[in-house]
Amino acid sequence: MTATNAPDPATLLRRFEARFGKSAHLGQATGTATDAVAALFYAPGRVNLIGDHTDVTGGLVFPCGIDRGSHLVIRRNGERRYRFASTDFDLFGDLGEDEISQRWGDTWINYPLGVIDQFRRRDIDIDGIDCLFAGNIPNGAGLSSSASIEVVTTFALNALFEAGLPPIEQVKLARAAENDFVGMQCGIMDQFAVAMACDGHAMLLDCTTLDYRQVPLRLGENALLVTNTNQRRELNESAYNARVEECARALALLAPALGVTQLADVTEEALRTQQHLFSDDPDALARARHVTSENARVRLAVPALESNDLARFGELMNASHESLRHDYQVSSEPLDTLVALARARPGVLGSRLTGAGFGGCTVTLLPRAGIDAFIDHVGREYRQATGLTADFYRIHPGPGVMRVELPSRKRR
Ligand code: GLA
Repeated sequence: MTATNAPDPATLLRRFEARFGKSAHLGQATGTATDAVAALFYAPGRVNLIGDHTDVTGGLVFPCGIDRGSHLVIRRNGERRYRFASTDFDLFGDLGEDEISQRWGDTWINYPLGVIDQFRRRDIDIDGIDCLFAGNIPNGAGLSSSASIEVVTTFALNALFEAGLPPIEQVKLARAAENDFVGMQCGIMDQFAVAMACDGHAMLLDCTTLDYRQVPLRLGENALLVTNTNQRRELNESAYNARVEECARALALLAPALGVTQLADVTEEALRTQQHLFSDDPDALARARHVTSENARVRLAVPALESNDLARFGELMNASHESLRHDYQVSSEPLDTLVALARARPGVLGSRLTGAGFGGCTVTLLPRAGIDAFIDHVGREYRQATGLTADFYRIHPGPGVMRVELPSRKRR
């Protein structure tokens, strides 16, 4: 079991000042001798409970924020230098203005760079920043560590540079950073969830209208447990983009017949009546089958949860996994093994892969009292079956992006 280990603000500030010095002067930039003040921001990761690979087609998703996330201590430097440090990685980037419009190798620094790039595209001048990131979301596990960094950077820059973008525009900006700079053609779920999460709730989000509703996660005697396959994720980005492309092909086949503009508007029934269109493209049909059935499952799952029918919610989680496995084809041996082992444990209501797939994590709904025995058994059986060691995270649905008070000089 990995501990949450959230860093405290005073420690973060000390580490920031050890790296970047106690003060920065904005005189050069503003023509006045103003001292720049460091600020602290936080954004969580997310776990999606049901509704995966529906956001890119305008469908429904049901994620919640988690109680792990990314902290960012940030200060303007007015020097047109862009400095990025992390408490978790040795890598330190100190970039000039001519270096920030291209990717910085294959590193996490591309996430804040992508965000700066988006501000510049909106004619908001980011004239230099010093940043220290600290995170406790496992990387590459499908819990949105990258969206968390993008969102925390976006909201921090929006505040520090007084850009005045409303929250939804900031969410869109953070997603565009991922699409345009990092190159993953993701939907809006992760950035939205990370920004808008609400303690103790999951959100039902319509990815077309961006209407959303916070739904209290009343799980009674049950709890959510996330299990990390620790499978090395390869081809994640290209396989993800390939699925997006297959969904676009499905839409191109269906649009003339059904008059729809996106796959989310196609019902399961309508897809059945148009199957003949897919004789040359069975992959596109399978992807569309997943999207339409997954949307229908989200529609059923949320009222089931609201009426305390957790058994039904769990069944829909199980069905979602099968659809992601067979129709959308983003599961893997380790994910299927974990899901099968989880479902064999007493009292487990549902278990499915969560997020993009191709490795990463599962999410399981199970009796709280059985968690220790679950971890013990599933951990052992999974190691025997795959040779891999799983990590387990008890998840509490946590709040979204926020500014956090830093101790003032006098109080330190
Ligand atoms: C990734 C993407 C999201 C979403 C999920 C799958 O996390 O970033 O936009 O498509 O996969 O639901």
